Amino acid sequence: MSTQKKSSRKTILDIKKMKETGEKITVLTAYDYAIASIMDECGVDMILVGDSLGMVVLGYDTTLPVTMEDMLHHTKAVSRGAQNTLVIGDMPFLSYQVSPEVALANAGRFLQEAGAQAVKLEGGRETAEIVHKITSAGIPVMAHIGLTPQSIHQIGGFKVQGKKEDAAQRIIGDAKAMEEAGAFSVVLELIPEKLAEEITKSVNIPTIGIGGGVNCDGQVLVINDMLGLYDKFTPKHVKKFANLNPIIKEAVNGYITEVKNCTFPDSEHSFK
Ligand code: KIV
Repeated sequence: MSTQKKSSRKTILDIKKMKETGEKITVLTAYDYAIASIMDECGVDMILVGDSLGMVVLGYDTTLPVTMEDMLHHTKAVSRGAQNTLVIGDMPFLSYQVSPEVALANAGRFLQEAGAQAVKLEGGRETAEIVHKITSAGIPVMAHIGLTPQSIHQIGGFKVQGKKEDAAQRIIGDAKAMEEAGAFSVVLELIPEKLAEEITKSVNIPTIGIGGGVNCDGQVLVINDMLGLYDKFTPKHVKKFANLNPIIKEAVNGYITEVKNCTFPDSEHSFK
């Protein structure tokens, strides 16, 4: 008798098939067990434990201070919550750029220690050797081109990439280089929708857009953005599918008022 439990978890083959059949691919970021469990129940196709963690959870100005230990800690929590969804761990700044060997060792930790099924890393043709090294070891890689936040100081700000013809051609070349290097999908961040469409038609791997328009094979959003947790600034590409900031404020203010007034805890919430 087999003791092996059949897994219903999506694989990269399912994701690649969705491009062939034209079914749109849904990806959201998550950083903890509770949110990952909800997403898993809803049936999102992939969960990305993004290094956006640094900005939306840890409060840094950029993603640059995020460490491997930060990423592994949060990827472990997400993996415990996501039983059916493909979990991708985002490789933080300097965890893969130094050498293909270091990159492979760090990518392996996401699978071996943190329970992810794939990793993501930023960069185009300059990371081809690294992507090839990791995928040759059997670790699926999602590439990430266009605006790459780990290069924010070189790029000079969070702005749309590939607006000029030569820059657009370079991004198309980057997408092809990532496909050739073995990536199973590629994130297209903040590029004109026409360019994203052209890339989507010219590669066989799924394109996942964030600020790349509707013609990508799938979409990804940062969960804190799409839930409206932040009330100061909303980038153009973000749609708030909920507006939780005022709801949370109302709950916290209600709690403060009731504790101050001694109306919480009442008899219903106390033990006799
Ligand atoms: O870190 C992240 O959340 C990402 C997505 C925005 C694609 O890289």
